[in-house]
Amino acid sequence: MAILVLGGAGYIGSHAARALRRSGYEVVLYDNLSTGFRRLAQGFELVEGDIADEAKLRPVLARVDAVMHFAAHAYVGESVENPRKYFRNNVLGALSLLNSALDAGIRRFVFSSTCAVYGIPEQIPITEQTPREPVNPYGASKLFFENALEAYGRSYGLRSVSLRYFNAAGAAESGEIGELHDPETHLIPLALAASTENGPELQVYGSDYPTPDGTCLRDYIHVNDLADAHVRGLQYLERGGGEKGDDSLAVNLGTGRGHSVLEVIHAAENATGRPVRRKIGLRRPGDPPVLVADSAKAQRVLGWTAKRNLADIVSSAWTWMQENRVRHAA
Ligand SMILES: NC(=O)c1ccc[n+]([C@@H]2O[C@H](COP(=O)([O-])OP(=O)(O)OC[C@H]3O[C@@H](n4cnc5c(N)ncnc54)[C@H](O)[C@@H]3O)[C@@H](O)[C@H]2O)c1
Repeated sequence: MAILVLGGAGYIGSHAARALRRSGYEVVLYDNLSTGFRRLAQGFELVEGDIADEAKLRPVLARVDAVMHFAAHAYVGESVENPRKYFRNNVLGALSLLNSALDAGIRRFVFSSTCAVYGIPEQIPITEQTPREPVNPYGASKLFFENALEAYGRSYGLRSVSLRYFNAAGAAESGEIGELHDPETHLIPLALAASTENGPELQVYGSDYPTPDGTCLRDYIHVNDLADAHVRGLQYLERGGGEKGDDSLAVNLGTGRGHSVLEVIHAAENATGRPVRRKIGLRRPGDPPVLVADSAKAQRVLGWTAKRNLADIVSSAWTWMQENRVRHAA
């Protein structure tokens, strides 16, 4: 069975591609390399193109049985400054891809959604029934696409799984691939960088939240646990799975455990053996104090639970950071 991984030269897509291959699938990557990297696609067939390019996609879609869609812009702050860019890629581009896939006869679709669809929820942990009320254009663009998948499921028999990731982090344990974002906005790579000799100081946004140590709590999920969930999502579709009368499934992917910014800093210090230089600043507007998943549905429907904890995440990210620096310098 062949799978097209859109955005497969990016951080999470490149890990999912390897997990699919380990599970026996044939994998083709499709990416415009706007934020992706050729080296993350090494060892795979990579078709370079945009998801909105129907002519480019057509022959590739004709060769596969299912698609996994990771290709998107994914910076919350940038989406507030430049919503046009986000709606163009994550809505218009994604819809064009969805139509191309449907026209090619594809009926199995796995989508990278996000906990940003929930906005600032009133109740923690967040279940799939928590109202979806995004508070930024990025979250809104992802919610739009979830809605499109639901409508296409009802009307055209498209069967889909939307995976709502919490905070993706960590790297392949082999040190072969890992997180590469430019600019990097995620806490764990920034904390690790702040413990290196010339790395920039880490900015901590707020220490007066109603949390045990005053800093925000997030649910960090290892990228290889996410990758495993994608394989299970696909297998669920292959089994003909679907909740009663519903052809689109949405599940949270998190550990169910929140870690504060200070806990992450301590984990980074443990991994590197050096202090993380940081500056405690003011809160950032729009940051909810706590975002933690209820992941019972993923366990129940996909048989999935996260296997790796914060220490595993941080140590794999540190291994990757060192490997990458050596290879990059070579
Ligand atoms: N990183 C996280 O914590 C997180 C959390 C929730 C959801 N997500 C979602 O997961 C997905 C992957 O995120 P990531 O962190 O791996 O980001 P990434 O930027 O590393 O990967 C995205 C990939 O998609 C490609 N791409 C973007 N637009 C494209 C287009 N129009 N045509 C073809 N290729 C295109 C990029 O070149 C890149 O390789 C995204 O959809 C993101 O919204 C990420």
